[in-house]
Amino acid sequence: MADDNASAKDDAKDDAKDDAKDDAKDDAKDDAKDDAKDDDCVIRIRNLVNAFGNQVIHDGVDLDVRRGEVIGIVGGSGTGKSVMLRTVVGLNRPRSGSIEVLGRNVLQMSAEERHELETHWGVLFQDGALFSSLTVAQNIEVPLKEDLRLSDRLMAEIAACKIGIVGLPADAADKFPAQLSGGMRKRAGLARALALDPDILFLDEPTAGLDPIGAAAFDQLIKDLQSSLGLTVFLVTHDLDSLFAICDRVAVLVDQKMRVATLEEHLRDDHPWIHAYFHGPRGRAAQPAERASRAPALIEPV
Ligand SMILES: Nc1ncnc2c1ncn2[C@@H]1O[C@H](COP(=O)(O)OP(=O)(O)OP(=O)(O)O)[C@@H](O)[C@H]1O
Ligand SMILES: [Mg+2]
Repeated sequence: MADDNASAKDDAKDDAKDDAKDDAKDDAKDDAKDDAKDDDCVIRIRNLVNAFGNQVIHDGVDLDVRRGEVIGIVGGSGTGKSVMLRTVVGLNRPRSGSIEVLGRNVLQMSAEERHELETHWGVLFQDGALFSSLTVAQNIEVPLKEDLRLSDRLMAEIAACKIGIVGLPADAADKFPAQLSGGMRKRAGLARALALDPDILFLDEPTAGLDPIGAAAFDQLIKDLQSSLGLTVFLVTHDLDSLFAICDRVAVLVDQKMRVATLEEHLRDDHPWIHAYFHGPRGRAAQPAERASRAPALIEPV
């Protein structure tokens, strides 16, 4: 009987040990998962509030942007898409909330740390913002001069390389912005945003003002760059075709908050603005184009 008791106790001990081991394993797995999640998230925004005077633009916005995704930011005009972008890149100080980019708290860092972090992203602003008195090559060289000590020859080579990457002809290097078409200026702006080989690309309405063919080509360029360079793309846009063509997820700014989901999920959302946006005539026109481009060919060309 005593032996039975002893062996029962031993069994209980073994079970407890096994349970503890299992728990430890589970914890380790959970930790690893959390680490993976943290590592996966290049931008983390929590409870962000932006306001100008009495005008509240964002009222508790949360957003996670995952490594390597193209996330589209949409919302009505004036809902604060550009303000959001400018806040993440440090050009607008929010009232409250937190923003981490690449694991670093952008609202609590020294000027030096901020400058270092800025070398990890490139920005194409809504208005293009090329320096009109500089050639395309010189525009691309601006961030290189700010952050690196390179010979003139090497800078010219890097500028030529970026000009090629964005699909501009080589002779665009010596042209001034005023000598370029709108689409070429967008590409030049993109080349400058890529100057420092960033991890994250912030684009504010990059296809606005382009004809549909130029806009589609620009979308394709962004998608190609994203996949070949492994970029994360934060894309503010009104362009439904862009959303359907290149975005992995879409963040919609409504009611001063953000709703983040896949397009398929947004299409099922019955929020009045979201429904009107995705199911309005333009939304409907954009959808089949996307589906058609993804769908396998059902009929062999003759
Ligand atoms: N520096 C500022 N000072 C005061 N108000 C501002 C400032 N910047 C933006 N706003 C206001 O914040 C609101 C959001 O502006 P924002 O430029 O982010 O809109 P948006 O969603 O990008 O619009 P659009 O689609 O037209 O580009 C607007 O009402 C704008 O007037
Ligand atoms: Mg804007």
